[in-house]
Amino acid sequence: MRIIDIIDKKVHKEVLTKEEINFFITGYTNGTIPDYQASALLMAIRLNGMNDVETAYLTEAMMYSGDTLDWKYLGKTIADKHSTGGIGDKVSIALCPILSALGLTVAKMSGRGLGHTGGTLDKLESIKGYNFSVTDSEFRELVEKHNIAIVGQNEKLVPADKKIYALRDVTATVESIPLIASSIMSKKLATGSDCILLDVKCGNGAFMKDLEQAKKLGELMIAIGKQLNRKIAVEITNMEQPLGRTIGNKIEVLEAIDTLKGRGQTDFNEIIYSSGSTIIMLAGLANSEKDARLKIKEVIENGKAYNKFLEWISAQGGDIKVFDDPKWLNPQYKYEIKSNAEGYLKINSAISFGLVAMKLGAGREKKEDNIDFEAGIYLNKVSNEYVNKGDVLFTMYSSKPIDVKLEKELLDSIEFSKEKHNIKPVFAKLY
Ligand code: URA
Repeated sequence: MRIIDIIDKKVHKEVLTKEEINFFITGYTNGTIPDYQASALLMAIRLNGMNDVETAYLTEAMMYSGDTLDWKYLGKTIADKHSTGGIGDKVSIALCPILSALGLTVAKMSGRGLGHTGGTLDKLESIKGYNFSVTDSEFRELVEKHNIAIVGQNEKLVPADKKIYALRDVTATVESIPLIASSIMSKKLATGSDCILLDVKCGNGAFMKDLEQAKKLGELMIAIGKQLNRKIAVEITNMEQPLGRTIGNKIEVLEAIDTLKGRGQTDFNEIIYSSGSTIIMLAGLANSEKDARLKIKEVIENGKAYNKFLEWISAQGGDIKVFDDPKWLNPQYKYEIKSNAEGYLKINSAISFGLVAMKLGAGREKKEDNIDFEAGIYLNKVSNEYVNKGDVLFTMYSSKPIDVKLEKELLDSIEFSKEKHNIKPVFAKLY
C-alpha cells in the first residue's frame, strides 16, 4: 500500500477502505508518512468529504493510535459530556457532580481553552490546589472512590489526534465535518464512556455558525457512536449568547456553585436540566424527560449535588474553604457599564463578549499566555431582561487597569426593544 495512491483515491472522490485509513493513521502517528503527504490527504478529505462509514473507520483508527481506558471492571455506567466550546460554558463543573450524585460515574478528561472559548481545566485550576495532572492509577482511584474525577487530557490517549490537529491548524483543514467528528469522537471513545452527551454549540461564538452544519456534525457523531456501540445523544445549543451570567474562571466556578445550590435562573440553568436529563435518560435512569428533570431538581434541593461537588474538588486537592470566602473573587479593577437606553436586552454577539473577556485576561491569545483568574465579565443583565436607563448592564473585572475601549465593544453587540425576543437555549436534540 502506498500513501500516494490513497491521496489520489480521495482526490477522485473515491471511498477509502478500513485498511487504507488504518495505514494512514498508523503511518502518520509513527512518522513514516511525512507531514506533506498527510496534509495533502487532509485537504482532499476537506474538499471531497468522507461518508459515515469512512469517518467511523477514521475515528476507530485514531482511537486505537494510543492507550484506551476500560472501566468495565467497575460494573458501573460511565457518563461523559463534551462541549465543542463556548463562551461562559461552565456546564461540566455543575453537571458532572449532579450526574455523580444521581449514581452515574464520571471519568472525564478535559482540555484548556484557547482564544475566546474557556477550558474547563482553566476554570478548575482557579481553585487553589486543584490537581488535574494525575497518574493513571490516581485517576482510577479517584473514580473508584468518589464516582467522579475531571483530569487533564492524557498524553498517551489518541496521539494521532494531537499530531493531526496541529497539522490541520496550519493547513486550513480544521473546518471539515468528518475531521472534526473523528477528532472529538476518538477522544471521547478512548476514555471508555458508555453514555455520551455531545453539546454542539451553534452561533457566532462557536465553531459551527449555522444550524444546518451543526446538525450535520451531530448526526455524524451519533452514527460513529452507534457503529462503535456507545449510547450517544447530541444537543445543539445556542452560542449567539454567552451562557449564563458569567464569563471568566473563578467567576464561572461561582456561578456553577449557585446553580448547584438551586439559585440558577438563566439559560445556564436550563442547559443543566436539558443536558442532564438527556444523559440520565440515555443511561436508563429515567423514562421521561419530566422524570429526569425531577431527579435533577431533587439532588439540587436536598444538597447532594453540591456535597458531591465539594467531595470531588476536595478529593482532587482543591481548597473548598474558598467557596465560603466572599473575597475569593477579588479583582483589583472593576468597571461597570451602564445603559443609556431602555427596553428588553438582546445580546447579538457571544464572540464579542468572549474576546473582551480574553482581553481582560480571562483567556489566552497564545498558548503560552497566563490566565488572570480574577478577570472576567458579570452580566448584570442578560437577554430578555428589562433594562432602564442608568442600570448597570455588565461589570468587567481584571487584575490590570481596564481599557475603556472595551465598553464600546460590548455596547456595539447589544440592542434593546419594546418586546421580548424569541431566544431558545437549546436548538435541537438528536438521538
Ligand atoms: N474539537 C476537537 O477536539 N477537534 C476538532 O477538530 C474540533 C474541535
